[in-house]
Amino acid sequence: MESNKQPLKTPLQKAARDGFTTGLGVILVTMGSAVGLGNIWKFPYMVGAFGGAAFIIVYLISTLLVGLPVMISEHMLGRTAKADAITTLQKLAPKKQPWWLIGASGVLAAFVIMAFYSEVIGWVLAYIVKAASGSLLTTDPNVTGAAFAQVIGNPWLSLIVQWIVIIYVSVIILAGVSKGIEAAVKKLMPALLIMLLIVCIRSLTLPGAGEGVAFLFEPDFSKLTGAAIMTALGLAFFKLSIGMGTMITYGSYFRDDQDIPISATKVMLGDLGVSLLAGLAIFPAVFVYGVQPDAGPSLLFITIPTVFASMPAGNIFMLIFFVLSAVAATGAILSLFEVPVAFLSDHYGMSRKKATLSTAIALALVGSLAALSSNVLSGVSIFGLNFFDLFDYVSQNILLPVGGLFICIFVGWVWGFGKIKDALSNKGDLQNSGIIRVFFFLVRWVSPILILVILLSGLGVIKI
Ligand code: TRP
Repeated sequence: MESNKQPLKTPLQKAARDGFTTGLGVILVTMGSAVGLGNIWKFPYMVGAFGGAAFIIVYLISTLLVGLPVMISEHMLGRTAKADAITTLQKLAPKKQPWWLIGASGVLAAFVIMAFYSEVIGWVLAYIVKAASGSLLTTDPNVTGAAFAQVIGNPWLSLIVQWIVIIYVSVIILAGVSKGIEAAVKKLMPALLIMLLIVCIRSLTLPGAGEGVAFLFEPDFSKLTGAAIMTALGLAFFKLSIGMGTMITYGSYFRDDQDIPISATKVMLGDLGVSLLAGLAIFPAVFVYGVQPDAGPSLLFITIPTVFASMPAGNIFMLIFFVLSAVAATGAILSLFEVPVAFLSDHYGMSRKKATLSTAIALALVGSLAALSSNVLSGVSIFGLNFFDLFDYVSQNILLPVGGLFICIFVGWVWGFGKIKDALSNKGDLQNSGIIRVFFFLVRWVSPILILVILLSGLGVIKI
């Protein structure tokens, strides 16, 4: 707990800061942030919609050339400044340069993402109850479709499940960084892995599972459109929880002896592993029972239940599947929630209690726009999207990549090689100058140019 001993410069920061306690804790908690509904809800439906393995390859390239450098940058900045996202950039940037805006856009993004994310977790909770009661045991997608429409069409139900999520997340956050977040995620991650393996084994041992495996691993590049490439990049940001200050905030709780390039690589690989396991849990079964894999966002809530209902002892596996989704999502939303809480307490010296309560209330307000988007507010559309879809689209495809772009520019061009070398070698303790040079080249040239090209092509400014 006492790893952060540097004196804090802001007069408002008096008490010693809480932090993660062990090296393993850092990796588990950071992985807990990355692993979430992105792996179970987004990754499979995007792989399904954009043609399987070819999309996965583009996604992999995005995580390696863009995701990893941005994650390392964020961890490094946070650990150096030991403060929330906004204060970190204020402390590290040259005087009068407004780099703190990256942190500000991050706090905004935290609310935008949590607004729809908390609602999806709420649906998962509703589905846990449904799965336990056996009411989802049907192989008819019309019936599961009607069940889903009933959940999202009910305004009170939508609000209440979201409030339940906000309340239990607040309770964990209130307990602190080490005793709350770290303690909870250390229990959640192993449980998640065990449950995921159980469902994978079930799915892979179904007769005819090979077709689903082939879909995941045999690329068909003819399906790779510009939209698919932009989606893969956005997904890499969303998946790795980067581009908005979550990883700056978590980096500020890292220990000084943490080897950042190595731990970030482990987190990236672990997250990829969970995504692939989720794919192996879902696609073999999807193909065995002859349902379409390209169902879109409703794959998890409409298609998947029919798949489970078709298999022997399906109700048990369905229940395990939705519980593991809730478990995965909890580690992720904790990391989002911590961004404004850290900001309010580091920057304004607010007590953790007050900061948590303010964040929870603000989230309940913004979140209600997402919760009510399929019922009371279903007539409201902005750029043709309801609030839920708008929050999802804007955060994944605009706020996160733009945030990531500016983080690269700041680290590669403003902060400079000397400070990077100091920070990533732990002031010379680590012999990793080769890794640092590769990182510097990526963050200075490769990552920002790739982000820019993909963003511009996504906006239709250039054609690739
Ligand atoms: N990475 C998480 C997921 O895949 C979601 C998440 C948590 C996130 N924190 C984030 C996304 C910060 C973007 C930014 O479900």
